[in-house]
Amino acid sequence: MAILGYAEILVAFFCFLFLWHWRWNRDSPIINWPVVGMLPALLRNASNVHEFVTHALKHYGGTFEFKGPWFTNMNFVITSDPMNIHQIMSRNFSNYTKGPEFREIFEPLGDGIFNSDSDSWKHQRKLIHSLIKNSQFELFLKQVVQDKVEKGLVPVLDRVSSLGIEVNLQDVFQRFTFDNICLMVLGFDTNCLSIEFPNVAYEKAFDQIEESVFSRHIVPESIWKLQRWLQLGEEKKLSKAWKVLDQFVYNCISSKREELSKDTTQKSKEANFDLLTAYIEQDGGAETVGFTKFSNKFLRDAAFNLMLAGRDTVSAGLTWLLWLVATHPSVEAKIVEEIRDHLLVNNEIKWGIDELNKLVYLHGAICESLRLFPSVPFEHKYAVQSDILPSGHRISPSTRLLYSAYTMGRMEGIWGGDCLEFKPERWISEQGRIVHVPSYKFIAFNAGPRTCLGKDMSFIQMKIVASSIIWNYRVQVVEGHPVLPSISIILHMKHGLKVRVTRRDL
Ligand code: HEM
Repeated sequence: MAILGYAEILVAFFCFLFLWHWRWNRDSPIINWPVVGMLPALLRNASNVHEFVTHALKHYGGTFEFKGPWFTNMNFVITSDPMNIHQIMSRNFSNYTKGPEFREIFEPLGDGIFNSDSDSWKHQRKLIHSLIKNSQFELFLKQVVQDKVEKGLVPVLDRVSSLGIEVNLQDVFQRFTFDNICLMVLGFDTNCLSIEFPNVAYEKAFDQIEESVFSRHIVPESIWKLQRWLQLGEEKKLSKAWKVLDQFVYNCISSKREELSKDTTQKSKEANFDLLTAYIEQDGGAETVGFTKFSNKFLRDAAFNLMLAGRDTVSAGLTWLLWLVATHPSVEAKIVEEIRDHLLVNNEIKWGIDELNKLVYLHGAICESLRLFPSVPFEHKYAVQSDILPSGHRISPSTRLLYSAYTMGRMEGIWGGDCLEFKPERWISEQGRIVHVPSYKFIAFNAGPRTCLGKDMSFIQMKIVASSIIWNYRVQVVEGHPVLPSISIILHMKHGLKVRVTRRDL
């Protein structure tokens, strides 16, 4: 009887706690329950998390603290306030690192740039910067993209156009960018984009790794670690995919070392300006025994990080851009006009770097698309020491922070009352130049010292691909096809982008 009495008292106490919390929190979009914290609200809205977070951030004035269940280490501060972002990304940069949890979650990235802080990060950034910003690399990139468009993309679109069948443009872009990034980073053509739509094991492995890494964001740490130890579920899939991808990348590294040791002529070096070649050339060719610098493991991590950086970001960006253009005929017409004015030679498109720079309207359309649908919708940070954010929020050491790029693109305070509209014009000044928006407001390419190193090359790629498609074809979204953002580390479309394309008669 006495035991029953205690149980009843305990139940009554918890009922009181829940009611008390509900009463105090009923007007807020997220109720912070005892024991489970705000997790129920997050799970209830998981399929719509970006809109949910945007709604909550607007309600709380741009910043709030998410409370996870007790004892789970799921608490974090989330913000979309540009002044907070400026503080985190630039003004107090050294205080906000990737942190130990990011490294664990993104374990397959090894010691590459995304997973690094302080000296290791500085060293890698300098190295990548010197390779990517080389004018020879820019020309190599333009040539690689142009070849893939002419020999991969156009034949595929011609075929689906002549057969009158639907095609998933997102899948086409995923294949296109995988081929492209492998050519640029590894100097190897994976030929994923061809009319047969082949099933390429390492491309699928790449997708699986991203999925599993995302799953580590939503499953409590203790659970995914247990699954990893027992090799169950998502963690089992991750291990398998990781092996497949490693095998592919290590094979490319060995072949490249062999190829370079045999052929040392200047001509072949100029023809192969992929990043792996550039790394190995810097090191004199041989694998360094012992410590990292250019060991095969170092090259594997560097290559994988660049592949992750430059593949899905571009394909997601292209998918949203083409959808927005296809559903905004006046924008489409202006882009066609601009291509006619700047790229046409003897009725054919020619992509020179200078000509691509003249495509101001298309540039504005790409920025606008990335504003509304940033390829990386959330970013992580970890506070080393205490700080006070401009919004007044106190940050204690070891606090995890997230910022939502998706929300930032939808804030009236930054973009005005028409922030939900797709308007490339907002990026163009009266003088016909691109309007500069500080990166802590337009955050799609990150901000401060860790700004994306591939921004310029992304614009080159996206302009070549978009101009080729928009000039040559009319893209029509299949009627009734649902267009929704996926819930992942990259903002893909949940159901892909089903379209029909028809050759444009110009
Ligand atoms: C539309 C295309 C792209 C978008 C939206 C984009 C966006 C971003 C973002 C948000 C970050 C910060 C990630 C983080 O710190 O966790 C980043 C970093 C980076 N991006 Fe990009 N990216 C794009 C394309 C590329 C391409 C094509 C490359 C080249 C391979 C590239 C190379 C990098 C590198 C190396 C970093 C790390 C910078 C650092 O930590 O110092 N990105 N990018």
